Amino acid sequence: MGPRLKLEAEQLHVNRGGRPVLSGISFAVAAGEVYGLLGGNGAGKSTTLSTFLGFVPAASGRVKVNGLDVDRDLAAARRSMAYLPEAASLYEHLDARENLRYFVQLAGMSRSTADIDLALDRVSLAAGARGRPLREYSKGMRQKVAIALAILRDTDILLLDEPTSGLDPAAIDEFHALVRGLADAGKAILMVTHDVYGACQVADRIGLLRGGQLVNQFAAPTGGRIDTETLHRAFSAGASA
Ligand SMILES: Nc1ncnc2c1ncn2[C@@H]1O[C@H](COP(=O)(O)OP(=O)(O)OP(=O)(O)O)[C@@H](O)[C@H]1O
Ligand SMILES: [Mg+2]
Repeated sequence: MGPRLKLEAEQLHVNRGGRPVLSGISFAVAAGEVYGLLGGNGAGKSTTLSTFLGFVPAASGRVKVNGLDVDRDLAAARRSMAYLPEAASLYEHLDARENLRYFVQLAGMSRSTADIDLALDRVSLAAGARGRPLREYSKGMRQKVAIALAILRDTDILLLDEPTSGLDPAAIDEFHALVRGLADAGKAILMVTHDVYGACQVADRIGLLRGGQLVNQFAAPTGGRIDTETLHRAFSAGASA
């Protein structure tokens, strides 16, 4: 299982294209926790995920994954994370099972057809759709396949970049219930979103990122939720400032 804190950013500074993009952000995500990272376009949300993944280097400060410095133990750090990018790249000409089999192999793992179907059950992708090529899928169905892949990898940590954008309200609720279930089973989940309501529905804690700084953090009260109104006000107050 490893350490309780699965993701840690300490005084993290990141530059991109010669400009500071993250300016000293610090936060941590523990096992069993959903952390929502909220912020406007260009605030630095995706960059934060990219730094944990080791795609973008820290200019100063530290990022740790599963207690390991990403700088020093990149391969081990990557093995413990499943990543759902903003635009998941799946193969259009392959069906859901074929996509999953291919990407699982690419990750150096082997999973049986039964395992694959179990993952597709968990995201409730209709059985009749599983043998059809992805070009015939709706956005929500594609997203389910991408999430099924993350589930199949069975990592301690999930990084999700706007996983609900473009999904209908029922699909969003279903997705959040799934995310909540994964966290309750012990996964650490860092979820980037623009969706204030959705973030409050699922997150234990929410960090508000603005211009590369973590300007506010909210924590759900024991057994309760973060208040949507409070978060909305904090989010939009900064947008006009
Ligand atoms: N590859 C890159 N090269 C240079 N600058 C980049 C690169 N990627 C992102 N940036 C810059 O970094 C800043 C933060 O971008 P980032 O993608 O992290 O924002 P975001 O919060 O994810 O925004 P969005 O909500 O639009 O996805 C922006 O100013 C952006 O222009
Ligand atoms: Mg982004």
